[in-house]
Amino acid sequence: MDSQAPSTMAESRCLVIGAASGIGRATATRLRASGAAVTGADLPSATWPGGPGTSLAMDVTDPASVAAAVAAADQEMGGLDAVVNCAGILGPVAPAAATSVQDFERIMQINLTGAFIVSQAVLPGMAAAGYGRLLHISSTAGKEGVVNMPAYSASKAGILGLVKSLAKEFALSGVTVNALAPGNVVTPLFAEVPKEQQAAQAAKIPMGRFGTPAEAAALIEFIVSPAASYTTGSVFDLSGGRATY
Ligand SMILES: NC(=O)c1ccc[n+]([C@@H]2O[C@H](COP(=O)([O-])OP(=O)(O)OC[C@H]3O[C@@H](n4cnc5c(N)ncnc54)[C@H](O)[C@@H]3O)[C@@H](O)[C@H]2O)c1
Repeated sequence: MDSQAPSTMAESRCLVIGAASGIGRATATRLRASGAAVTGADLPSATWPGGPGTSLAMDVTDPASVAAAVAAADQEMGGLDAVVNCAGILGPVAPAAATSVQDFERIMQINLTGAFIVSQAVLPGMAAAGYGRLLHISSTAGKEGVVNMPAYSASKAGILGLVKSLAKEFALSGVTVNALAPGNVVTPLFAEVPKEQQAAQAAKIPMGRFGTPAEAAALIEFIVSPAASYTTGSVFDLSGGRATY
């Protein structure tokens, strides 16, 4: 392991993508509170709550934009130990017959191809340093398939295969690659799910409530911490008991 590798979260230099909203925003806040150096990135059009802070423009579908932001974050913090990719969209909630190929491809492009582009941009540097934590956000939808979300479910299932493959490729390098699979977390994205579908999902949650971004951030912090050193290619459920396998 590289002598510069962090031994605590407070020593970690973190890039959070999709940090202007929801789970990404809560993650950046939590990691900062733990003493980590944190750079947030999001779309150029994103509105940053509470002022600009340390933030970069990045579109995960554009390899040049991702490479530039990763290089800027690396330079700003003097290295990159942990990357949390929270960039994602829900897209239209509609039956397959009413989902256009264009919509399908756009959702796949942001949620899945974007994760691949981010992985390509950060893994070689982490491997060269001998230490790294990369986390992508999948979904219970990727494990179970959710009705009227064929593209979203497919994109999130793709994340599972992606992290499992990359985890094996980088297993000897000191770098872990994992996925978080949230069920229902109250964010602007979740607010786009029609109310009747939200109610149907709520009925499947043994804990009887939706999750909060802060609860997601707490688990994310552990997954990207130096302490989480023996788990890679794994899918961490965050579903109030909804996910059962
Ligand atoms: N909220 C939930 O219930 C839930 C459940 C399962 C999975 N997820 C996943 O968690 C992740 C975070 O979602 P959230 O609920 O916090 O949503 P959110 O809408 O609050 O945040 C998503 C962020 O991603 C950014 N983003 C979108 N497209 C981007 C792009 N091309 N490049 C860079 N950034 C981009 C948005 O600007 C936004 O800030 C997503 O991948 C989502 O699919 C959420």
